[in-house]
Amino acid sequence: MHTVRALLPLLLTAGCKPPPDEAQHMPQADPVRGKQAIVRAGCGACHVVPGLRWPQGQSGPSLEGFADQGLIAGRLPNRPDLLVAYVRNAPATLPGTTMPAMPLTDGEARDVAAYLYASGKR
Ligand code: HEC
Repeated sequence: MHTVRALLPLLLTAGCKPPPDEAQHMPQADPVRGKQAIVRAGCGACHVVPGLRWPQGQSGPSLEGFADQGLIAGRLPNRPDLLVAYVRNAPATLPGTTMPAMPLTDGEARDVAAYLYASGKR
């Protein structure tokens, strides 16, 4: 019994240790809704999107393996807050980018980012 009591705080703290991909964990966002928003907004017109069979546009970079990329568009750190801002309004987030602003609400942009992180692992 004493051992259990002694171990309990240890176990609890161990549970709080962030997993390796903690930085991409987005508890408020829903990847399933994100995929729907991706289809509706038409991201596939310019991108190969993982899990999307059609369309598979080529004018933008493929989003396969996006979760493992260090940078967004080669210039922004690949973090949830920046990705949310970028997929919604890329020109405002990264001046000079060729990615257009997209008709997404902030909530939809969060869901889209969650989908790219969840599905974009190699
Ligand atoms: C009209 C074409 C077009 C559409 C539609 C489009 N994009 Fe893009 N996107 C681009 C281009 C071009 C780039 C490359 C930008 C750059 O390198 O500056 C890009 C870059 C990106 C990147 C960064 C990729 C990387 O490898 O760093 C992400 C993420 C992204 N787009 C997500 C989306 C999402 C999500 C949607 C739909 C909501 C979308 N895009 C719709 C053209 C488009």
